[in-house]
Amino acid sequence: MKILLFFLFAMLAMTALAQPYLTQDYYSGSCPSVVDIVRREMIEIAIVDRPKLASILRLHFHDCFVQGCDGSIFLESTDTMISEQEAIPNKDSIKGLDTFDNIKTAVEAECPGVVSCADVLAIAARDAVILSGGPYWDVPLGRKDSTTANFVAANINIPLPNQDLGTLLAKFLFQGLSLQDMVALVGAHTIGVARCVSFRERIYGDFLETVGLNPISHAYLFHLKALCPEVGGDDNTSPMDNITPIFFDNSFYQILVRGEGLLNSDQEMYSSLLSGDTKPLVIQYAADLLLFYKHFTESMLKMGNITDPLSYATGEVRRKCNVVNS
Ligand code: HEM
Repeated sequence: MKILLFFLFAMLAMTALAQPYLTQDYYSGSCPSVVDIVRREMIEIAIVDRPKLASILRLHFHDCFVQGCDGSIFLESTDTMISEQEAIPNKDSIKGLDTFDNIKTAVEAECPGVVSCADVLAIAARDAVILSGGPYWDVPLGRKDSTTANFVAANINIPLPNQDLGTLLAKFLFQGLSLQDMVALVGAHTIGVARCVSFRERIYGDFLETVGLNPISHAYLFHLKALCPEVGGDDNTSPMDNITPIFFDNSFYQILVRGEGLLNSDQEMYSSLLSGDTKPLVIQYAADLLLFYKHFTESMLKMGNITDPLSYATGEVRRKCNVVNS
């Protein structure tokens, strides 16, 4: 019993010590221009390669759900480590890695070896939202980059589009996020696209059931099926918000209320038999843009704070995001 208590205490002490103290002025002495550099690069991306804004926002989510926001998603496979990029939710799906490299390179040019990849990604994700017309929030900084990737955790922790609501919720709760955080954060699907392979089950599944008799929804389904046949066309893409695909607004939730969500996981929050607690939030966000913005920014801050004490304690500032420092 004493031994058990000792370990418990040691673990708690380690957690307390290892928790990063993220602050807005973390780089005020060492790299005061970091936020400006990232913004400059993101504006460039918004002009020349706009779809990558969504891809960068998603990278931050997939990074934070695996041993905390520690840039582990960027690490490539080595002889001793399998990259998270190989995990099912990421493989052939995540985009924007090269684009992100350019942002980090720009930061390194002005502040070599100072700003972590995880921090650059957190700032870039915020900018992706603003540049899509969404809300602003201050990004606390001071994250460390991990020296390891976690392929197994990437497979387990990151939600998949055909998982049921209970499983999806469990994955958010596991990260210390709430049901409300989940519904608000999934609102990120107001920008970006999904591949046919991610929404095939949905359009050949309960789509007709959730939309009812609305002829416009039937025409939309016809269009989706032409884009995504039962066999083939796996990589064809469609926006998850087909009303305003590049604007960060609340039309994503209005689509769910109409029963037209593209991913099973999205529509589950409104139509599942177990959606008693999520459905009212979907309805509220569909009606109230500012409430969605408020909850989304609060939840992004919470998600951006997820930390694995071990990963943090052994972390570093990686100069190149795809490999640990030698
Ligand atoms: C229930 C949780 C979630 C599930 C099951 C899920 C699933 C997916 C899937 C399947 C795609 C399309 C990927 C593809 O077809 O290649 C996608 C795209 C996307 N997701 Fe999520 N997601 C979830 C939550 C989130 C959260 C919390 C965020 C950010 C805060 C986010 C941001 C995005 C963005 C921006 C895209 C578009 C990416 C692009 O266009 O490159 N997702 N998501």
